[in-house]
Amino acid sequence: MNVLRFEDLIAQGKVRGQRVFIRADLNVPLDDDGHITEDTRVRASIPCIEMALKAGAAVMVTSHLGRPTEGQFKPADSLAPVARRLGELMGREVPLIANWVDGVTVAPGELVLLENCRVNPGEKKNDEALARKMARLCDIFVHDAFGTAHRAEASTYGIAQYAGIACAGPLLAAEIDAISKALAHPRRPLVAIVAGSKVSTKLSILQSLAHNVDQLIVGGGIANTFMLAAGLPIGNSLAEAGLVGEARAVIDAMKARGAAVPIPTDVVTAKAFKADAVATVKAAGEVASDDLILDIGPQTAKLLAEQLMAAGTIVWNGPVGVFEFDAFAGGTQTIARAIAASNAFSIAGGGDTLAAIAKYGIEKNIGYISTGGGAFLEVLEGKTLPAFEILQRRAAG
Ligand code: 3PG
Repeated sequence: MNVLRFEDLIAQGKVRGQRVFIRADLNVPLDDDGHITEDTRVRASIPCIEMALKAGAAVMVTSHLGRPTEGQFKPADSLAPVARRLGELMGREVPLIANWVDGVTVAPGELVLLENCRVNPGEKKNDEALARKMARLCDIFVHDAFGTAHRAEASTYGIAQYAGIACAGPLLAAEIDAISKALAHPRRPLVAIVAGSKVSTKLSILQSLAHNVDQLIVGGGIANTFMLAAGLPIGNSLAEAGLVGEARAVIDAMKARGAAVPIPTDVVTAKAFKADAVATVKAAGEVASDDLILDIGPQTAKLLAEQLMAAGTIVWNGPVGVFEFDAFAGGTQTIARAIAASNAFSIAGGGDTLAAIAKYGIEKNIGYISTGGGAFLEVLEGKTLPAFEILQRRAAG
């Protein structure tokens, strides 16, 4: 992708003494007491910040946190917990600056965190006046917020239009490099796992992948709709009967290319959606009218694991069963372990997928774990995200 990269500017000596504005995605989950429960995004933002400081820049970093009401800052919207965590991880104090749009004082070698950018009126709608003000704060704008790369807001898009120099930070660049490696130039066979509750939320991803991947493994409620399309009974399971035609079209598109959507041959069922419900393994053709399918069966899991072990590239979005309930976690666990053991280049993204990766402790065995939720899904859909569109446009001059 033809975008200016922050590393290249540093290598060219263009960053020393400059005011650098980094848009990071520090939108992390907090508990009721305001403590960060999962800090991957904070950790992932540090290489860019360190890089800027080491290069002798005056460094400003901002992010959104949640979806606050613009112009109505509340204590719960504050990036204070993030400033503390960043400080701990970097071993330095990270001052948090409020009301920063009209001017920020920061010297070369110093770092400040600018309070939640989504409380600034005009942020969401990418207001031009706000974006121009932000652009005036810096000499170089660095977009390093992959998790927010699908949003065109003042601090992600407008500032990139108006800043003197606009470039991609190392995290943004690494994310798109990993996704391009997986989807644009994959080592084959390319296997994608797309799972989740509804076909409707991932239909365009399924349609887009159907033109590229060799195996399209579906899971969760999505698999139930595909089972219906294959003429199998699904009892009371979650499915979208109205989308059976679309599911069949995906199966046919794959078949026409000599590729396949593996349909489960066995499943794990229950009579109720409960952690302590009795789990029963059944052949896919024998699901009763009052059954709920809550996982793929062991035979299906074994077959999919073999396909994953033989893959050249794996893209993983979504657990294949209700893995939060131990009795229905077998399919997701088998798949997770197969991905971890496979020699394939693997890329995973999405909240539930990251939770499954953490549950089975396989973080180190995944080729690339994306920090994007919605952004990761939109890239899988084949969309050009606003962040890349504007940075490419700026690079083209
Ligand atoms: C995310 O958590 O996916 C990103 O931070 C984007 O957040 P948003 O959906 O509120 O724009």
